[in-house]
Amino acid sequence: MSAVPEEFDPAHVATMAASEGHMYRNELASRDPMPSVLEANPDIYFVPPKRSSEWGQWEYRTGAYYDTTVAAKHPYWHGEDLPVATKDIQRLRSDMVTWGYCKIEDALSAEQVAVIRQRVLEQAEGERLAGIAQKTPSGQNINCCVNKGQCFEALLEQHPSMVQGGALIEQLVTEALGENWISNSLIASIALKGGVPQALHQDQDIALDSRSPLTINVMSVITDLDENTGGTLIIPGSHRTLSDSVRDQKPAGKLPPAINLDAKAGTIVITDGRLIHSTGINHTDTPRIVMLNGMQHPVIRQQENWMLSVKPQVLGRASPKLLQRMGYQATNAAQTNEGHGFGASGGVGEAAGLTVDFRFAADEGDYLRVGELGPDSSPEELNAPYTLREVVTKARAGGQSAPVGIGGTKRNL
Ligand SMILES: [Fe+2]
Repeated sequence: MSAVPEEFDPAHVATMAASEGHMYRNELASRDPMPSVLEANPDIYFVPPKRSSEWGQWEYRTGAYYDTTVAAKHPYWHGEDLPVATKDIQRLRSDMVTWGYCKIEDALSAEQVAVIRQRVLEQAEGERLAGIAQKTPSGQNINCCVNKGQCFEALLEQHPSMVQGGALIEQLVTEALGENWISNSLIASIALKGGVPQALHQDQDIALDSRSPLTINVMSVITDLDENTGGTLIIPGSHRTLSDSVRDQKPAGKLPPAINLDAKAGTIVITDGRLIHSTGINHTDTPRIVMLNGMQHPVIRQQENWMLSVKPQVLGRASPKLLQRMGYQATNAAQTNEGHGFGASGGVGEAAGLTVDFRFAADEGDYLRVGELGPDSSPEELNAPYTLREVVTKARAGGQSAPVGIGGTKRNL
């Protein structure tokens, strides 16, 4: 047997791996604008929200990015021609390009809002009763809503029966992303009193220098948003500021202050994936509900559908590295399974976001998905052996301290 050339020896490769020699070193480093943003804007970024065990001990910092209000009351933004709720497609296009978001007025009728609101509140209570609620630092999320009520199926496809402005929404999304866009997820994001604001962030975390968005969020507003109810924190225009800074390889500099988004229930807000935003603070006793429906360019996914196509025997002997490479390791922002994997980093060997047990359960014919639940659900429904529950329990037993599945998320608005 011939000797393996020295250049292929992992130890030798490691000696050659010093970053000074990396190709594209400068380009990759400059694609993350956050270091320069943090340097120039020390006040705007908040320490990531604390865990639920620390709720109530959190200290409000005056002057921080979340210490703000709606645009009309904000001294910096008052008088600026920021997006307005409208049905006028020309204005919506202009708002989207200029400010990174637009507001479609009455995209959901009052009746459509009422249907979704009731289903969300019932499901949230049902998941709490079943012990499978996903608590977030801001409140509670309901993941994989498409399994949890027909109203969500129609919402996901912007069917006029649930989204009266569906055709207009789809036109705008198609103009932003191109044809054949797909959905990332459909999540109910509930902000509750006592919740902490989320750290500001961009949803699109690749190709930050892109000239048009690769991801967007279609946010259905189910309860009124303002500075008291947990209106989403956004920095208008930041989608362009950061992209330009990355493309031109210049520091982003001082960013404008964040505002609370204001929108009446029934509005759909479309946000550019590059817009800096986060969940706001709900100071009221009424749950704040928005439906988050991320959309993305269709090319941002795997070519082969490994989730379905890989033989059970291959999965059974797969190393953590092979599973991760095929996408069976969910991350905070990608390919979670019924929400499992939120909070996970996606590292090789990390059990927190491993999703292969869902596939094994499906192969065995006993994958039990969480479906419609509510306050009137029977004990049998609430205590059913949901695969999600079992996977999360196993991940936690594996010594994972990171939130898994039923835990925290940065995918809020
Ligand atoms: Fe987000």
